[in-house]
Amino acid sequence: MLKGKHIVLGISGGIAAYKSASLVRLLVKAGAEVQVVMTPNAREFIAPLTLSTLSGNPVITEFFSANTGEWHSHVDLGLWADCMVVAPATASTIAKMACGVADNMLITTYLSAKAPVFVAPAMDLDMMAHASTQRNIELLRSYGNIIIEPAVGELASHLVGKGRMEEPEGIVKALADYFAASDDLRGKKVLITAGPTYERIDPVRFIGNYSTGKMGYALADEAAARGADVVVVSGPVAVKPREHGVRVVSVESARQMLDACRDEFALADIAIMTAAVADYAPAHPADKKIKRERTQLASLELVMNPDIAASLGETKRADQLLVGFALETDNEAENAEAKMTRKHLDMIVMNSLRDAGAGFGTDTNKVTVFFADGRVPAAFPMKSKADVARDIIDLIVKL
Ligand code: C5P
Repeated sequence: MLKGKHIVLGISGGIAAYKSASLVRLLVKAGAEVQVVMTPNAREFIAPLTLSTLSGNPVITEFFSANTGEWHSHVDLGLWADCMVVAPATASTIAKMACGVADNMLITTYLSAKAPVFVAPAMDLDMMAHASTQRNIELLRSYGNIIIEPAVGELASHLVGKGRMEEPEGIVKALADYFAASDDLRGKKVLITAGPTYERIDPVRFIGNYSTGKMGYALADEAAARGADVVVVSGPVAVKPREHGVRVVSVESARQMLDACRDEFALADIAIMTAAVADYAPAHPADKKIKRERTQLASLELVMNPDIAASLGETKRADQLLVGFALETDNEAENAEAKMTRKHLDMIVMNSLRDAGAGFGTDTNKVTVFFADGRVPAAFPMKSKADVARDIIDLIVKL
């Protein structure tokens, strides 16, 4: 699972740094490319020469090279990484990561990293148990970092307790397991609708809604990160996919969205309908701008738009999975389940406008998921849309 992966190994100054040599060796043996970033203190515990020899790459400690003035770009490094591992992570480094104290190259790289970050704490048992360390570790967890729990064992102080860094083999296994799980949609084709639709009144006006596409694009990124071949049929939005390889088909109206989806759905294994499709469109859109003085427009004739989810539901094959969303204001569960049945969905993700922080435009969401096969609904607390996307994709993979 680690073959060809770019791994930034951040080493901070604890006695467990002596294990970093084995860690680098195991990672390289597993086929990974390793770039070591050390804090200045870490150099007291293990020689950079050992690590540069084992990794085959110069070790970075300073922001720039004193001899040449060459700048070490933490931004490039953060983008290069498929994952970052901080091992050992001392109490001080964990605190700096939690608060963004960017006074060394390890922390600036951490703050620039877009990839998952693994943290392997290593410290004396009392430091580990201290409320501030525990709070900082919880903060890191809340940022989405993955904590590789330290073991109980003999520590450098000769005391026995929790604080012993996970062995290099255990760290490599945690990474390999992560990449294995994060590849569970490999080979699957996923269609996602996202954003609002604009229904043209005339060349400068439309009927639309407040959808920003954030939830749909978060799902697209999550599915792509897990190996899927993703196409987003997207109404007009400002967001862009973060993952490479997410194909975007831009449309404006519900009709155009339906046409694009029909073509894509035939090839898809999974379709997730997050778009806030306008229910109605003007019956006779004007070719020229409607002038206020001349028309005295008092009403607008509307026609009903096609229901894209329901239409795909009618042609759905047994090997396809169709997932819908329901944004409700009242009778949430009942309405969502009725929609799931009517549209032949396999799963529906319900969010309620009664929950502050859920719905259009927010960066968070709080969802409950219902299943057509009768399994128990899954209710989640308020989370970032990226984390909600992970929960939803986990459920889809289970289905
Ligand atoms: O009926 P309602 O609009 O609440 O249903 C929401 C679900 O149906 C969402 O998954 C949405 O993307 C989809 N939908 C659609 N086409 C429509 C209306 C809704 O695909 N015209």
